[in-house]
Amino acid sequence: TVVDAQGLVLLPGLVDLHTHLREPGREDAETVLSGTQAAARGGYTAVCAMANSQPVADTAGVVEQVWRLGQEAGYADVQPIGAVSIGLQGETMAELGTMNASKAHVRMFSDDGHCVSDPQLMRRALEYVKTFDGLIAQHAEEPRLTQGAQMHEGELSSRLGLAGWPAVAEEAIIARDVLLADYVGSRVHFCHVSTAGSVDIIAAAKRKGINVTAEVCPHHLLLTDERVASYDPVFKVNPPLRESSDVAALRTALAEGIIDAVATDHAPHAEQDKTCEWAHARPGMLGLETALSITVEALGGPDNVDWDIVAERCSRTPARIAGLDDHGHDPEVGQQANFTLIDPTTTWTVVPDELSSIARNTPFAGLNLPCTVQATFLRGEATVLDGKLTDRSQETA
Ligand code: NCD
Ligand code: ZN
Ligand code: ZN
Repeated sequence: TVVDAQGLVLLPGLVDLHTHLREPGREDAETVLSGTQAAARGGYTAVCAMANSQPVADTAGVVEQVWRLGQEAGYADVQPIGAVSIGLQGETMAELGTMNASKAHVRMFSDDGHCVSDPQLMRRALEYVKTFDGLIAQHAEEPRLTQGAQMHEGELSSRLGLAGWPAVAEEAIIARDVLLADYVGSRVHFCHVSTAGSVDIIAAAKRKGINVTAEVCPHHLLLTDERVASYDPVFKVNPPLRESSDVAALRTALAEGIIDAVATDHAPHAEQDKTCEWAHARPGMLGLETALSITVEALGGPDNVDWDIVAERCSRTPARIAGLDDHGHDPEVGQQANFTLIDPTTTWTVVPDELSSIARNTPFAGLNLPCTVQATFLRGEATVLDGKLTDRSQETA
C-alpha cells in the first residue's frame, strides 16, 4: 500500500478506554463489526469494550466472545472490560481472576452504566486487581443523589422542570475512591469526569502521589446543558452535559494532563430509544467517529493544537492505562505498526447517515468539524484508506 502523507499528521493509533459495542445483546444498535469500523474511521486501532452487554461481560466466556469477535472483524483490537459485579448488580464480585486468565487478558473492570456504590465491594475489587496490576474504572455517581435525575442540576434544570443530577453526586464518589485506592494501594480510573470539582479532587490526589487516572469525553469538552432546552433526547447522557465553567475546567485539565485521556463513552442506541420523550430516552451518545475532531477543537483548533498532546491523551496514555503498550497492543503480542494519518487542513460535516455506526445518535449532526482521518493502519495493514474503510474479510477469514 502506498500512501502520500505529504502535509498529513502522523499519530500512533488512537486507543479508546471506553466504548460500548452492544454485542452481545443489542446488535440493532451496534455490533463489534460496526463499532470497530466506526473506530477505524475515527483513527482508532484499539477500543476497550464496556461490560454492560446482554449478557453482561462478567465471565470468561463473554469476554472471550467479545475479544474473538474483534479479532474476526479485523478493524481494531477489542480489549474487553470485565464487570466488577455479577450482572452489574453491585452485590457479588464477579470472578475477575478468571476473566484475567482468559484469552481476553482482561486487566480492567467496570460496572459502567452503574456506579460501584458499595464501598466494601469497591475495596475488595481494588484489593483483587492489585494482585495482577489490574484496574477498576469507576462510573462515579452516588445513586442516592441522582434518583430520577434527567439532566445537570443547576439554574437550567429548575427552569426546564427536569430533576437535577448534581455535580456532588460525581465528586462524592471520586473523593471516596481516591481515599480507598490510597488505602488499598491500588490503581483507580475515573470514567467520563464531567465537573470542575472532580478535576480539583483528582489534581489534589495526584499531588499527593495517589495512583489515580481520569478520562474526559469529547461531548463534555464541547457541549453544555443549554442543549437540553431543546428536549432533544440526543443530548441526554450520563453524566449529563454540564455548565460552561465545567467545560472550561475540563479543557484546561486535559491540556495540563490532570485529566490523562480522552475516552469516547461511545454509546450507540437504537432509534426508538432516542426518538421518544426525554424522560424515557436512554442516555448516551455516539463518539468514535467524531472524537479526534472534537478533541482538536477543544485543544485550540487545528492551527494551534499541540499534536504531541493529542498523541499523549488519545493514544499513548490510554494505552498505558489499559495495560497495552504505546501502540495500543497487548504487550504479549509485540509492537507493530498501528497509526493514523490526519489531514489537519480539511473539515467535514457530520451526517448521521454517513457514519459507520448502526446507531445514529450523534449530538454533532450538521456540525462542521476540523481534521479528517485519511488512513488508519492496524499492524501494518490499512483499515481505512483515503478516508474509506478497506475490505478486511480476506485478511481475517
Ligand atoms: C452508557 C450506555 O449507554 O451504556 N450511557 C451513557 O449515558 N453514558 C453507560 C455509561 O457510560 O454510563
Ligand atoms: Zn458511565
Ligand atoms: Zn459508558
